Amino acid sequence: MPANKKLLMLPGDGIGPEVMNQVRRVIDWMDKTRHVSFDVAEDLVGGCAYDAHGTSLTDTTLADAMGVDAVLLGAVGGPKWDNVERDLRPEAGLLKLRKEMDLFANLRPATVFPALAEASSLKTELVSGLDMLIIRELTGGVYFGTPRGIEDIGDGQKRAIDTQVYTTAEIDRVCRAAFDLARKRQSRVTSVEKANVMETGVLWREVATAAHADGYDDIELNHMYADNCAMQLVREPKQFDVIVTDNLFGDVLSDCAAMLTGSLGMLPSASLGAADESGRRKAMYEPVHGTAPDIAGEDKANPLAMIMSYAMCLRYSFDMGDDADMVEQAVETVLGSGLRTGDIMQPGMTEVSCQAMGEAVTAELDKLAG
Ligand code: IPM
Ligand code: MG
Repeated sequence: MPANKKLLMLPGDGIGPEVMNQVRRVIDWMDKTRHVSFDVAEDLVGGCAYDAHGTSLTDTTLADAMGVDAVLLGAVGGPKWDNVERDLRPEAGLLKLRKEMDLFANLRPATVFPALAEASSLKTELVSGLDMLIIRELTGGVYFGTPRGIEDIGDGQKRAIDTQVYTTAEIDRVCRAAFDLARKRQSRVTSVEKANVMETGVLWREVATAAHADGYDDIELNHMYADNCAMQLVREPKQFDVIVTDNLFGDVLSDCAAMLTGSLGMLPSASLGAADESGRRKAMYEPVHGTAPDIAGEDKANPLAMIMSYAMCLRYSFDMGDDADMVEQAVETVLGSGLRTGDIMQPGMTEVSCQAMGEAVTAELDKLAG
């Protein structure tokens, strides 16, 4: 089979390269046993790119990212680059990728694996079976709004400004993405903003309601203020199916939802653009966790969120749902067998390294395929 599926791997900083290596292992496995070849290129993003090129994302890397079928990203950032100016910081490279690729819909599933239900900081009965999806708007809002900056206003005082801004079109497309995705789930969407205090919240609610009325009467739509949503997430998380919200609320609420599942190290994400005429979407897949500088290079990181991000890539970019299911099934079985990386270690379980976890997943894939 020709290598027609183009992937760009951007492992990034900290534990990014270690967890990405385990995805390579799964890709090699697929190559050998499923006869699916990927054309895989690798490049720098984040702090490592800054060290090599003086910027966290070069124009060449960006152009390559625009040209492939999917980007797999590890994680960016770390204390080493804390004093680098904002535009060159590791995070700026990530934000530029999201913005330039126009990846407006960020899918952050929060699912609880049965084997890990007890690792949640909430009571097991509140989270067992949890399966929700947060859709975070990713290319607008306060992350990109102008004016922004810090100015001197005399007398030793400064004034800092961020701008929260949304247009009808930006809200409409992410809400429709949420409705479409909900249709494949329980068909329930909660749209989250603060219409009680913010103008963007008022427009958000209006546009969400109008989009819903335009062809989505099979979907149940509710509106919720963001503060209430934070509270409901820890009170009764299973009430949610799909949450759609803006960039900043989505950032905060998705970390909260992540923790409900027992480990940030378990959660994948997909960032998708609009479909072109051929139905192809630009896409980037990354774990929700960060670079974990404290354990970087020690072979202790949990590669499962990265591996499951690759599973999302199979599902959303390559229409390989069966293979994605198989990878997820392998992860679930490995967890069920008692293997744990340090972050999800529990009494009576077996602690393994990042590499050993990756090996266990491919060994399980062998069984599932065989
Ligand atoms: C995330 C992260 C990023 C964000 C940072 C690293 C810029 O927290 O993907 O949730 O705030 O979007
Ligand atoms: Mg975040």
